[in-house]
Amino acid sequence: MRTRKLVFATNNVHKLDEVRAILGDSHEIVSLRAIGCTEDIPETAETLEGNALQKARFVAQHYGYDCFADDTGLEVEALDNAPGVYSARYAGEAKNTVDNRKKLLYELNGKSNRSARFRTVIALIINSQEFVFEGVVNGKIIEKERGDGGFGYDSLFVPDGYSATFAEMGASVKNTISHRAEAVSKLKIFLDEKE
Ligand code: IMP
Repeated sequence: MRTRKLVFATNNVHKLDEVRAILGDSHEIVSLRAIGCTEDIPETAETLEGNALQKARFVAQHYGYDCFADDTGLEVEALDNAPGVYSARYAGEAKNTVDNRKKLLYELNGKSNRSARFRTVIALIINSQEFVFEGVVNGKIIEKERGDGGFGYDSLFVPDGYSATFAEMGASVKNTISHRAEAVSKLKIFLDEKE
C-alpha cells in the first residue's frame, strides 16, 4: 500500500503520538519541525474551525505540503460556551494551565449547571482542497481537581458515563473516548477512503 505523507501542524509530541497511533502505518505523519517550520503559526481566528484552517493554510501555502491542523476548546454551558477558542489563554497570554483551571472554578462558583464539552476541529488540506472534521465529548466540570494524569483541564472534567476525571482514567481510556480521538478517527476514515 502507498504511504501518504502528511504534515500535522504541531510540535506537540503527545499529540503526534496519539494521532500516529490512530492513523496507523498507511499515513506518514510528520511534525512542523521535520519540515523546517520553526515559526509561530498565527492563531487569530474567533472560532476553532477558523484557527484550524488558518494553521493548515499557512503550512500548505508556505511549505507546499498536504497538511492538517487541529484546534481544541472547552465549552462550558453556564458560561455561554467560554472559554471555547480562548481555552489556552483563559487566564491570560501566559497560557498557564494552573491559572486557567483556577479561573474556571472561580467563574463556575455557585453555579449548579456544570455541563461542558471538549470540542476538537481538524482542518485538512489535501491537493489544495479543504476538509473539516469535528470530535466532541460531553461531560461536567467538578468542583475540585482530581487526578495527576493528562493536561490542561483534564483534572476538572468528568466525561458522561464515567465517574473518573480525564486525569484519573489514564491515557489509554481517554484516548478512546476523547474529542480528539473522535476527530482523528473521522480523519482516518476519510483518508482510508481516499487511498
Ligand atoms: P489546543 O488547541 O490543543 O492547543 O488546546 C487549547 C487548550 O485547550 C489547551 O491549552 C488546553 O488547556 C486545553 N485542552 C486541549 N485539549 C485538551 C484535553 O484533551 N484535555 C484537557 N485540556 C485540553
